[in-house]
Amino acid sequence: MCGIIGYIGLKPSLPILMDGLKRMEYRGYDSAGIAVIENGQLKTVKKSGKLDALQAALANQSFSSVIGLGHIRWATHGAPTDLNAHPHSDCTGKIAIVHNGIIENLAELKAELKAEGHELKTATDSEVFAHLIEKYYNGHNLSEAVLQALTKVKGAYGLAVISSSEPDKIVAARLGSPLILGILPQDQPNQGNGYVIASDAAAILPFTKEVVYLEDNDLAIITGENYEIIEKSGKCNNHQKQHLDWDLTEAEKEGYPHFMLKEIMEEPKVVADSMRGRLIPEQGKVKLGGLIDVLPQLKSARRIIFVACGTAHYAGRIGEYLMESQLGLPAEVEYASEFRYNESVLEPGTVVIAISQSGETADTLAAIRQAKKLGALVLGIVNVVGSSIARETTAGVYNHVGLEISVASTKAFVSQLVILVLLTILLGRQRNLSEDKAKEIISELENLPDKIKQILEQRDIIETIAKKYAQRNNIIFIGRKINYPIALEGALKLKEISYLHAEGYPAGELKHGPLALIDATWPVVAIAPQDSVYQKNLSNLQEVKARDGQIIAIATAGDEAIKELAKEVIYLPKTLEILYPILAVIPLQLLAYFIAKERGCPIDQPRNLAKSVTVE
Ligand code: AGP
Ligand code: GLU
Repeated sequence: MCGIIGYIGLKPSLPILMDGLKRMEYRGYDSAGIAVIENGQLKTVKKSGKLDALQAALANQSFSSVIGLGHIRWATHGAPTDLNAHPHSDCTGKIAIVHNGIIENLAELKAELKAEGHELKTATDSEVFAHLIEKYYNGHNLSEAVLQALTKVKGAYGLAVISSSEPDKIVAARLGSPLILGILPQDQPNQGNGYVIASDAAAILPFTKEVVYLEDNDLAIITGENYEIIEKSGKCNNHQKQHLDWDLTEAEKEGYPHFMLKEIMEEPKVVADSMRGRLIPEQGKVKLGGLIDVLPQLKSARRIIFVACGTAHYAGRIGEYLMESQLGLPAEVEYASEFRYNESVLEPGTVVIAISQSGETADTLAAIRQAKKLGALVLGIVNVVGSSIARETTAGVYNHVGLEISVASTKAFVSQLVILVLLTILLGRQRNLSEDKAKEIISELENLPDKIKQILEQRDIIETIAKKYAQRNNIIFIGRKINYPIALEGALKLKEISYLHAEGYPAGELKHGPLALIDATWPVVAIAPQDSVYQKNLSNLQEVKARDGQIIAIATAGDEAIKELAKEVIYLPKTLEILYPILAVIPLQLLAYFIAKERGCPIDQPRNLAKSVTVE
C-alpha cells in the first residue's frame, strides 16, 4: 500500500527520503510528505498529488537534518489533501508519525482523545497515533510511549515515529504491514552505520542489501549507531540479517516508456527463470526445492484450495482447472477476502495454496492464517523473497521473476501459470500422470520462451488494433474452459489501466444474458485457440457476429477460418491445450497497455489503485 521510509545516520536525510519515496511511488501515490528534525525543531512538508508536487514544494528549502521520515500515501480515511498527507503530528508539534495500514477502533479512540483535550486536525485514522503517543510521552522515552499507544490500537500498522525531544532515534513498529530495516555500510571505521527503515525493499536497495525484516508485534528502536528490536514478550531479538539479491536495474525502466511494457517484454525470460533448475526432462519430473519437506503431505492431499486476490486469483482458477482436469484432484479457488470470513469447513487432507506476487496482500495473509487455524497445510506461490506470505506459509515456490513495479500485474501472472503447471506435474507424478504425458508437457514448456517471443513480435499489430478500439466504452472478453480465466484477466487488465468498462464471460454464457448488450459498438475479444472447445467457440462467435459485434480473435497460427468471423485476429503459436493460457494472456496484456496509452492514462500508476494492498 502506501510507502514509508525513515533515515537516521550521518548523511543529510532529505535526499535519501526522496529517493526512497520515488522508488515506492508505485505503491500509492495520491499525496506525499516528509518530516525532518532541523536544529531541534520538527519540520514537515506535505503535498497532495504525485511526488513531483512535494519535490516542487521542497525546491527552495534546504535541510541539513540527518534524521527524517517520508511517506507516500494511498488514502483509506480522508481525501488525498495536503492536510491529510502524512507525516502527522501531535498537539505539541514535536512528534511526527508515518503510518501504513488502518486503525479499526478509530471512532472510540478519537472520542477518547478529544475528550482529553487533543485537537485532531485531519480526517485520517493515522493522526490518532501521534496524539496517543503524545498522551503517554514524558519527553525522554519515545519507545515506551509508542508501546503504550500501540496497546490501545486495533487494526494494522507499519509505523515510524520521531520526536524533536529525542532527535537521535526513530521508533518503528509493525503489525500486518511490512517494515524492513536496511543496515547501511559504515562511511568510516568506528562511525555509525546509518539505517533506513522502509515498507518496501525497493526503497532500501540503493543504499544497502543488508536487511532485517521486522515481524508482527516487533518494535524497533533505531539510532544512528545501533538498533534494537523488541518482541511482544519484551525480549530483544534483532533477528537474522538477510541479503537482498535483487538487482537495482530491475527497479528501472531501461528505456521503456513504462514499467508495464518492460515487464511484458521480459516474459520470455520470466518463463525460463520460473522453470530454471526445476525440470528433469529425461525422467518426466520436476523438482521444486521449496516443497521437498512436504512431499509426503502432498502425496496424500485430497483437495487443493487456492486463495488469492485479483490477478493472482485468476491464476488460481487456472490452477483449479489443471488439478481437476489433469489429475482428477478436487480443487477450488477462493477470493482470499471471502475465505477469511467464510467459515469454511476443511476436510482432512486439504492443502491451501496462497498465490501472491507481493507476498504482502493483507486479505491473502488473513486467509492463510484462517487456513492454518483450520488445520490445513498452507503453501505459497510468491514472488517477493522474504515477504510476509513467504514467511508465514509452511513451504512454497518462489517465482523468481524479479521486481514487478507496474501496478498491473503481467509477468508475475505468467510466472504463476508456469509454476502451476510445474505443480501439476509434481503432484501428477505422485498420482496417475504418466511419464510420457509429463515429458510431453515439459518439452512444450521448454518451447514457450520462443513462442512468447513470436507473440511479442506482433506488438505493432496489437498496437494498431488497440488504436482502432481505444475510444469505445465497453469491451467483452470471452473464453472457455482453461481460457475462461484468461478472459477475466484480460478484462481486469483493461479496467485497471484504461478505465474502460470491460467484462470477462464464459463464451457459452453470452446467450444467457450479456448478448443483449451486443451491437456494432461492442468489441468482443474471443480467446479461441484450436483446442477441444474450438468449434463451440466458433458457434458463440457466430452468435456475436449475427448481432454485429466486432470480434477480435486470439487464435492459433494458421487458422484461416476464424477470419470469416473476426474483424481482427492475433495469432498464437500452436501449443498444448493446457499451456494456451500462458500464451493467450500476452496479447491481452499488450492490448490493455496500448489502449491505455492511446487514452493517455498513467499506465504504471492507475488512479485509485496501489501495487500491494496491505489493508482490508
Ligand atoms: C493486478 O493487476 C492487480 N493490480 C491486483 O489484482 C493484484 O493482482 C492483487 O492485488 C493481488 O496482489 P498480490 O499478487 O501481490 O497478492
Ligand atoms: N490509513 C492511512 C491513511 O489513510 C494509511 C493508508 C495506507 O496504508 O495506505 O492515511
